[in-house]
Amino acid sequence: MGARAGGPRQRHHARLVARLAAPLVAPAWGASWGLLGRAFRWQAGHTQVLEAALATDGALPIAADSRGGHPALHAVGQDTEQALVVPWSELVGHVLVTGTTRSGKTRLLEVLASEAIRGPGAVVVLDPKGDRELLARCAAEAHRQGRPFALITPAFPQQSARINVLDTATTPAEVSARIRALMPSGGARGSDPFFEEYPRALIERLATVQAALGQAWTLDGLYTVSVLRLHMEHLLAAYLTQRGYGGQPGLPQLIRQYRAGGEPRSRGRCPH
Ligand SMILES: Nc1ncnc2c1ncn2[C@@H]1O[C@H](COP(=O)(O)OP(=O)(O)OP(=O)(O)O)[C@@H](O)[C@H]1O
Ligand SMILES: [Mg+2]
Repeated sequence: MGARAGGPRQRHHARLVARLAAPLVAPAWGASWGLLGRAFRWQAGHTQVLEAALATDGALPIAADSRGGHPALHAVGQDTEQALVVPWSELVGHVLVTGTTRSGKTRLLEVLASEAIRGPGAVVVLDPKGDRELLARCAAEAHRQGRPFALITPAFPQQSARINVLDTATTPAEVSARIRALMPSGGARGSDPFFEEYPRALIERLATVQAALGQAWTLDGLYTVSVLRLHMEHLLAAYLTQRGYGGQPGLPQLIRQYRAGGEPRSRGRCPH
């Protein structure tokens, strides 16, 4: 689109079409080709055969199954069919597959993904539409190749693989910044900064406490201690005990000691 006739884009396109149209025997993996299927190069002779059939019969036969279509378009070149391969080098840039609804775009993507899964490296498929057959095919191919497969889907959290977005955070401030970035409003409610600053301060402190106790930062873990009083109390009690406060069990007692500024029994005073 928008390319001048004979321009670089057109030349690239012509090269790609020529390579796709040139039937080649598909080599084993390790080479840089993906098998698309079987095909033949369309020639004037094919058109002539179909024109003759049309003139005789008045119409080309329509496939009996629900997809319809004209099988003659394929059958006319069946004798010269060969493997159709696509060089991976042609797919390193952007590739656009177009076609009307139900014309086979996703099935082509399935074939490309399957070939890629057979090759080296990881394959990432982003499918906003959620085509079940594409998903099943990718999973089956990965299984066949003995490769790990992970599905990440917010629509089905129970089936989804999980990523701990806090796993690589190094400071409590980074933890709260990452959580804030996940919130649609960026953590803000209206123009009052309180609703942004207070949760941030709370999360930072709880993250500090968890780190001191050697607990991993997770969204779930921080959520639980932020909103469930009992969990927060357990966390604080564990922390103050670890810092050397107390002697008698119970959070109120620990907090009283902490507020009184009394020296912890064994360890240095907590700076937080
Ligand atoms: N080469 C093929 N041989 C046999 N059946 C096919 C072929 N390509 C597609 N189909 C069938 O046609 C139907 C539509 O295919 P597909 O889902 O790939 O179309 P699509 O272009 O992705 O459609 P949409 O625009 O709705 O996403 C499916 O039922 C599929 O099984
Ligand atoms: Mg589709």
